[in-house]
Amino acid sequence: MKYTQVIPLLGAAALAIAGSAAAAEQTVRIGHVAPITGGIAHIGKDVENGVRMALDEQNAKNLVIGGNKIKFELLAEDDAGDPKQGATVAQKLVDAKVNGVIGHLNSGTTIPASRIYYEAGIPQISPAATNPKYTQQGYNTTFRVVANDSQLGGALGRYATDVLKAKNIAVIDDRTAYGQGLASEFVKGAKKQSPSVNIVSQQYTTDKATDFNAILTAIKGKKPDVIFFGGLDSVGGPMLRQMKQLGIDAKFIGGDAICTSEIVKLAGDALGDGHVYCAEAGGVVEANKKSLEKFKLTYKKKFDKEVQIYSPYSYDAANAMIAAMQQANSVEPAKYLPFLAKISYKGVSGTIAFDARGDIKNGALTIYTYKGGQRTLVTVTK
Ligand code: ALA
Repeated sequence: MKYTQVIPLLGAAALAIAGSAAAAEQTVRIGHVAPITGGIAHIGKDVENGVRMALDEQNAKNLVIGGNKIKFELLAEDDAGDPKQGATVAQKLVDAKVNGVIGHLNSGTTIPASRIYYEAGIPQISPAATNPKYTQQGYNTTFRVVANDSQLGGALGRYATDVLKAKNIAVIDDRTAYGQGLASEFVKGAKKQSPSVNIVSQQYTTDKATDFNAILTAIKGKKPDVIFFGGLDSVGGPMLRQMKQLGIDAKFIGGDAICTSEIVKLAGDALGDGHVYCAEAGGVVEANKKSLEKFKLTYKKKFDKEVQIYSPYSYDAANAMIAAMQQANSVEPAKYLPFLAKISYKGVSGTIAFDARGDIKNGALTIYTYKGGQRTLVTVTK
């Protein structure tokens, strides 16, 4: 009798051991998309590295989710900042059955790609796209961990009129979803703060242009005290050099996409001291400074590169997604999505928590200038 009872018990234990060995590892694919080629590849690589760092650290923890040992795999794609290529690689990630996506970087690629992820039910967190439309489409799969262009443009507009005392402003944008949207939010912000401000010139370029002689000459004749540029550092850097050549000494203000380490090289000595102002669509308050500094040191050690701008945010986005998987005890998009919507994750850039649209709650901004070739903090604001 004893004998027959023992055998089934041993059998069950053996099965359990065999079962856990069989289910031992599950690969969870996290997609990432940004421009990895072209003029802003340095910003794209930066966000990709942030995700890579998060996944490497999570893999070292040997997490068990839903009874399986989880191994995270990064599927990194390049959209070259091009809306069509963005849609193509988004579909590629859907076909590869990724469990979630961190990306894209440019608003112009992030917005069209978001529909593809939404239709496939795949959670997407952008660490960098700032156009408000991204989260206004009614998709429950879209999230962003940075502030949007209404906040960014509004704060810069206020800063230009209030602190820099701008009266005559020239505006240039690169006609992308980002540049165009940001420039109009900036003008709104400036006019709201100071209704008498004059927009003396409105000029357009592209995200690939290299020659700004015609538009800068037109602007020079209007004698602005500030030039606002809605666009990327790869365009803003050479534009600053050409401003200097033409003897235009107006202050130069731009958004997050010029607020990089790289603009120091791109603009050379045209960067000046206290001449260029920009804002990152995130803000780290005193209490978080230590963890951000630690992140920057670890990043430098791992990749032998300085943080450009948004790698701390992509790092936090990936970790917040994984925290939601842990809370749901599932890596299935449909199961962890509601947990992601309600997440409160303490990251290196601050607390990641989303409002009903998927925008970061309490999004802050940091205004910077450049002095002695260093990005220098001016203020953290809302
Ligand atoms: N914030 C920039 C954009 O939305 C990078 O395109």
